[in-house]
Amino acid sequence: MTMINRRSVLLAGLGLAGSGALAACSSSNASSSSPSLLSPSSSPIAQAESKRRSTGREKAVTLTATAGSMDLGGRSVQTWLYGDLPQGGLRLSAGDTLVATLNNHLPAATSIHWHGLALRNDMDGVPPVTMRPVQAGASFTYRFVTEQPGTYWFHPHTGVQLDRALYGPLIVEDPKEPLSYDAEWVVVLDDWLDGVTGTPDQVLAELRKGMGGMDMSAAPSSSSAMDMNGMGGMDMGGGASPSPSGGTAGMSNFMLMGATSKLLGVDAGDVNYPYHLVNGRLATAPDVYQAKPGTRVRLRIINAGGDTAYRLALGGHRMTITHTDGYPVQHEDVDALLLGMGERYDVLVTLKDGVFPLTALAEGKNAAGMALVRTGSGAAPAPTTRPVELDGRLLRSTDLRADDSAQLRAKRVDRTHRIELTGGMAKYDWALNGKPFDMNNPTANPFTVSSGERVRLQFVNKTTMWHPMHLHGHTFQAGGQGPRKDTVIVLPGATVECDFDADNPGQWLTHCHNLYHGETGMMGLVAYTG
Ligand code: C2O
Ligand code: CU
Repeated sequence: MTMINRRSVLLAGLGLAGSGALAACSSSNASSSSPSLLSPSSSPIAQAESKRRSTGREKAVTLTATAGSMDLGGRSVQTWLYGDLPQGGLRLSAGDTLVATLNNHLPAATSIHWHGLALRNDMDGVPPVTMRPVQAGASFTYRFVTEQPGTYWFHPHTGVQLDRALYGPLIVEDPKEPLSYDAEWVVVLDDWLDGVTGTPDQVLAELRKGMGGMDMSAAPSSSSAMDMNGMGGMDMGGGASPSPSGGTAGMSNFMLMGATSKLLGVDAGDVNYPYHLVNGRLATAPDVYQAKPGTRVRLRIINAGGDTAYRLALGGHRMTITHTDGYPVQHEDVDALLLGMGERYDVLVTLKDGVFPLTALAEGKNAAGMALVRTGSGAAPAPTTRPVELDGRLLRSTDLRADDSAQLRAKRVDRTHRIELTGGMAKYDWALNGKPFDMNNPTANPFTVSSGERVRLQFVNKTTMWHPMHLHGHTFQAGGQGPRKDTVIVLPGATVECDFDADNPGQWLTHCHNLYHGETGMMGLVAYTG
């Protein structure tokens, strides 16, 4: 944070040169031996934007980031939020131009990143890579064409602000929607601690210390025994009933141990959250969706969590997966979904008669969020209900197939970047290829690409933890004929190959969407050369 501020002071000192100042700064960071990188303000970025299919229609919104209180349902918390975010988030039609003015009423600099959209690079909202931070008291207007329909979302790309309430859905409707359904519901999942057990900045500070920050008297002391393989067998007790009053005396306040999951491995998460929310509500005071029996509903589900994968099921129902990360897939009927942080799924469900739990199990954390679906009379299920569907048929995203309309056309791969996911909990030294990303020197080790290339990012997970890997500004096709996605779960020890066409010039982050992994260094820069 302080380092970012220092840089922003530097940028401010460059005066009114505008985005040109940013360009000069970025290129001076590139080492002289590497080819020159396209800056976010260079003309190819505007050219790419002018080629997008645009309706010419503008949708203007204001988002005021502010400190405030939020009612979780019988419990009110102090947090940071967008005061004027419409219910259900932002909505526009493909080809429309979003004109979003961010007013920063926070006591800190902020930004908005539009997750999953292939937009113009200088609107991607990543300070200091694509813009200057929006300082406390300042405003910034984002303006870009939203070409691709789908379920997206937005959040700050500044520190760990995402783990407050600073996020929202961004739904881009398809004017030629091929699916038919009667109703559409947005479902937002989130892990919550802000204003309850502490703040996200306190979590980050504790995690940064690594396991050394904890009382490990019950654990082996040699650092070689501290790797995750060793820890998987230890019963640290942290997975059971997280307590809103904080950790046990002598233990950490925030760090979670022993979160094992048959889907994600020995370490499903690092952070102990007292609450899991669906649409910002506790399971004890749930959001209620109402409809008539027989209604065919499209659910647009977003995992906005910081460190929690959710397994989601609707009691008494099967779901038909139609999209992931905004792009259509060949339809599959499942009982449950698994969403890593940043991932989205769209499903169709035909509702039965009754009252049903829409349960989001915090994978490996022995806790859940819940909303209700009510189509008839009857008593609501208990907040602790675990529908049997949670243990039914579940497909991993890489088991899905892209719809024909979403397949990348067959083409030889021009360039492969092997990206090892490295680090661990012992030192909390998450990184790509062993090099922690430095936000103040983002072009130090770029993964370079050239416009027109077919690029393969080969994510090779060398750690014992899973990582939801995300790429800005593009969607890749995961694993051959797999789905088009922007965020994909890479299991411990696994490799996932993500192919994309380099058709959106600029400088784009690729990172783990575990907020705390990304923030401590599991990030890199995919940069187009000029
Ligand atoms: Cu949700 Cu860098 O992204
Ligand atoms: Cu990670």
